[in-house]
Amino acid sequence: MGAECKCNCDQEKKLDALFAQYKGNSNGLIVVMAAIQEVHGYLPKDSLVKTAEELGVPLSDVYGVATFYAAFSLRPRGRHCVNLCLGTACYVKGAPDVQTMLEQEMGIKAGNTTEDRRFSLDLVRCLGACGIAPVLTVNGEVYPRMTAEKVTEILAKYE
Ligand code: FES
Repeated sequence: MGAECKCNCDQEKKLDALFAQYKGNSNGLIVVMAAIQEVHGYLPKDSLVKTAEELGVPLSDVYGVATFYAAFSLRPRGRHCVNLCLGTACYVKGAPDVQTMLEQEMGIKAGNTTEDRRFSLDLVRCLGACGIAPVLTVNGEVYPRMTAEKVTEILAKYE
């Protein structure tokens, strides 16, 4: 048994304690889901089914909450969140070329996470910074006037 297993077990115990605390109580839905998101980095399907059963909430409601709040993700997320703006200004100034290079470097299509969970790549709407288009953000850090040529160097900064 390695330290990692112990850690995961501790986290699972915390979740079990929350399930016990909110058993049959739909008011605990957000709290429990936030804890699951924190432990797993996303909301695994099994955990959502368990949440519905334990709290006595219809599974459709659980999914409704999961998809409504941006803080929840139904898919595993990467350690680094890469967002490329595809708003009009960014688009006309070359964001599609940046997207192609990002997808090529990561080996995934936008909207997905790399298998090693290093990056999640998402396309977003206007970030309100059209003057420095095309705009890329990594974990909230802004990269202005992006070009496909800058992609490799920028991604290399994030392990
Ligand atoms: S269109 Fe990209 S910042 Fe406005």
